[in-house]
Amino acid sequence: MRILLIGSGGREHALAWKMKESPLVNELFIAPGNPGMKDLGELVDGSPEDLEGLLTFAKERRIDLTVVGPEAPLVKGIVDLFRREGLRIIGPDKKGAVLEGSKGFSKDFMERYQIPTAKSHTSEDYREALQIIKEYRLPLVLKADGLAAGKGVLICETMEEAREGLKKILKDRDFGHAGDQVVIEEFLTGVETSVIAFVDGKTIAPMASSRDYKRIGEGDQGLNTGGMGTYSPNEAYTKEVEARVEEEILKPTLKGIQKENMDYRGIIFIGIMITKEGPKVLEYNVRFGDPETQVILTRLDTDLVEIFKAVENASLKDISIQWKEEKAVCVILASRGYPEAYEKGKIIEGLERVDEQTLVFHGGTGLKEEKLVTNGGRVLGVTSLDETLEKARKRAYDNVDKIRFEGKTYRRDIAKMQ
Ligand code: AMP
Ligand code: GLY
Repeated sequence: MRILLIGSGGREHALAWKMKESPLVNELFIAPGNPGMKDLGELVDGSPEDLEGLLTFAKERRIDLTVVGPEAPLVKGIVDLFRREGLRIIGPDKKGAVLEGSKGFSKDFMERYQIPTAKSHTSEDYREALQIIKEYRLPLVLKADGLAAGKGVLICETMEEAREGLKKILKDRDFGHAGDQVVIEEFLTGVETSVIAFVDGKTIAPMASSRDYKRIGEGDQGLNTGGMGTYSPNEAYTKEVEARVEEEILKPTLKGIQKENMDYRGIIFIGIMITKEGPKVLEYNVRFGDPETQVILTRLDTDLVEIFKAVENASLKDISIQWKEEKAVCVILASRGYPEAYEKGKIIEGLERVDEQTLVFHGGTGLKEEKLVTNGGRVLGVTSLDETLEKARKRAYDNVDKIRFEGKTYRRDIAKMQ
């Protein structure tokens, strides 16, 4: 098969690495990819958001299957476009992608299908929103409705902060059109878990659980990021929680997808808070998580391309998906400054010293005069597998120490702090 993978982050590096293992794959093209992926496939120029350009490429190169990493092309309707042209692609159609594209829509969806989530209000009016926040206890959560690269969520500890947040989103338009509406939400406490599943429209098949650490600082302090590290399986995801998630979240989500006639043959990612009252949905994403994918795919024991084929032709129920017993830990090395303005162009050294049970997935890397340099906020994801979580964590951090670049920023409590 000839596969086209769209995206350029650590998630896509992990996808490329896993797909490349499959005997079904003859050729892999990655648009645009990054330097870490150059030995796995052919890197192709082009932006993930240039849907027409990608379509032309897929037709010219007779691509058998396209796999989309990031959300933006999905929300723009790449799946509709490719399927209309008879091309096979993994992902939800535009209608399904709204589950991530609009947080207001996803809250309404949860209400329609009685999926447990935080109490909330949606508003597009600054004055109205200022009144609504008065009904909420502190801390409260504000979310820009649209896509904001994981940065559109503000946790406000004081009313002053909440008022400022509303101004940022609705008036100053810090998030552009993503801030056409704001979702005001009750703050939930508990342990987070990411549940990512394959969906083919008829079956929803969850992958191994994982835990993402969203805040920049240790002890969950500071700004939200795209994710500073992950581990799998999540220890808080007990059999009991799993059973409740299945009944209370996964089944009604599938029912909603079907009732609303979404052509959903792709990935659904459900961010969940395990609260005292049970699991509650924080958000839907319509793609793999980054850096969840790094720890999930390193534990996957089934051919990923076989699974994708089954997702695409709606035969997921016939596939048994197997996971390795080993545990995985991924620690993100970020650029100084991230998630705000950050440095770029710092030389990266020491990758050749990493051990064999560790994979370093590239995110924001680039080449400068043939040297590997930092080129993004989240630069590398150091991912180790071992028989216990303790060992996997130690291994990941031992390898983190071997890698150097100026301003290397990371959390030391990944897979440690619950
Ligand atoms: P989201 O993009 O909606 O998942 O939000 C990003 C992160 O913000 C989540 O992973 C949580 O860590 C945090 N968060 C979002 N909503 C809430 C909430 N209602 N209560 C507590 N934390 C939240
Ligand atoms: N790690 C969270 C996300 O991919 O949205």
